[in-house]
Amino acid sequence: MNKVSFVPHSPQSLSSVGLVSMKVAVIGLGYLGATTAVALSLVGHDLIGIDPDQAKVDALRAGRVPFFEPGLDEALAQAQSTGRLAIQAEHTCTSADVDVFLLCVGTPQSRSGMGADLRYLESSIDDLAPYLRADAIVVGKSTVPVGTAEALKGRLATLVAFEPYLSWNPEFLREGTALKDTLTPDRIVIGVDEPHSEALLRQLYQPMADLDIPIVKVDSKTAELVKVAANSFLATKISFINAMAEISEQVGADAVLLAEAIGYDERIGNKFLKTGIGFGGGCLPKDIRAFQACAADLGLEQSVSFLAQVEDINMRRRTRVLDIAREELGDLTNRRVAMLGAAFKPETDDIRDSPAMAVAELLWAAGAHVVVHDPKAVDNVRRMYPNLTVADTLEEAVAHAELVVVGTEWRDYALADSAVLGHLAANKLVIDGRNVLPYRQWQANGWKVIALGRNLEHNPVEVLV
Ligand code: UDX
Repeated sequence: MNKVSFVPHSPQSLSSVGLVSMKVAVIGLGYLGATTAVALSLVGHDLIGIDPDQAKVDALRAGRVPFFEPGLDEALAQAQSTGRLAIQAEHTCTSADVDVFLLCVGTPQSRSGMGADLRYLESSIDDLAPYLRADAIVVGKSTVPVGTAEALKGRLATLVAFEPYLSWNPEFLREGTALKDTLTPDRIVIGVDEPHSEALLRQLYQPMADLDIPIVKVDSKTAELVKVAANSFLATKISFINAMAEISEQVGADAVLLAEAIGYDERIGNKFLKTGIGFGGGCLPKDIRAFQACAADLGLEQSVSFLAQVEDINMRRRTRVLDIAREELGDLTNRRVAMLGAAFKPETDDIRDSPAMAVAELLWAAGAHVVVHDPKAVDNVRRMYPNLTVADTLEEAVAHAELVVVGTEWRDYALADSAVLGHLAANKLVIDGRNVLPYRQWQANGWKVIALGRNLEHNPVEVLV
């Protein structure tokens, strides 16, 4: 470890004069790992990023982030210019100098059930074991079932000749704001079971601690649970407001205004109460499923049985769009539908478990000719949904459409010219699945607007993004 003085002036850097620079290996360079590697090198640590995917390594080495994440390209260039970020496909002898191994590999849903597939974590442990110094620490960041740290430590112990250090440090970054969330998180949770790992993790996060970002120290099992608890709570909040939307739609009330009204109560808060076609992405859906599987393994399925309801509500919001489309158009066979948005949320090109794509598939399965547009995700749609038509422009998607559906809350759609689009569409009917359209302007241009969970007639209040 070298003592360095680090006084950055860029907004992306954190100030930590006298930071004790550590040698850190980040294993897995997806959203989590790539962002973590870049962020930690920007604050002054010495990073090696390792990923077996040679194409990903080549792209990152060439300064290209292989997915869309705002600001990360620039930050990668900045990190590379410091000379403190090496990227490689496997461990080399330099791994032997590493103080901290951060495990950032994926824990996808297993093919055989709802539980998490831990094989990438296990192979990371096997790969790093030959390079592990007795005083180095291994730290998991991926979302895992409780007890994983203990199991991985046991696995590692069989591969080295000393008692290894292994702890858990869950990550809460969101896609779209990943860099900011990593450099200035709301909190840092370190799940440690002995003082050595705690000391090194505190040193790693000294630049954040200097900014008064709270560091919550817990045991490793609590840390594992914190992450799934946080994601379960967020998913529950979204499904709660979507359940209110179901009831509002039935009785003619307005769930968007309901959310505003309850959100003023500080105990409830107004965040994560946006009603629409629900949550998706690479984390929330799989994490609540894995949590249910983990609880069932512990014989505690009842404790989180409400998560099955959370998922059911989430899925019903998707079919609700199909139901509305049928109510409005009747048989959907060969009816042209424009799906505006493919990404699971704005500011990302990630379409994993995307509600917009799920709705597009439902409409397609009902016979509709679905044309998908997205400002960033069209390449992923082309690759993963060859059955759907992809439009490169919003206008191309809407041309001749008999129905327009807003599936992702991109600002481009909120700002779209509804008069121009009205001239292009065959039928001026729009279902706003994300409650982002300035619907009065759309109505003024002749559109029939159906906003999920809303009663626009009795509550003519605009919600602007
Ligand atoms: C989530 C967690 O927020 C983050 O802390 C964790 O580290 C990873 O999982 P992310 O997957 O990037 O982050 O997405 P998030 O911003 O949580 O949104 C998830 C989904 O919920 C999106 O599809 C979004 O459109 C939807 N959503 C969000 C709503 O439908 N309503 C809301 O009010 C908020």
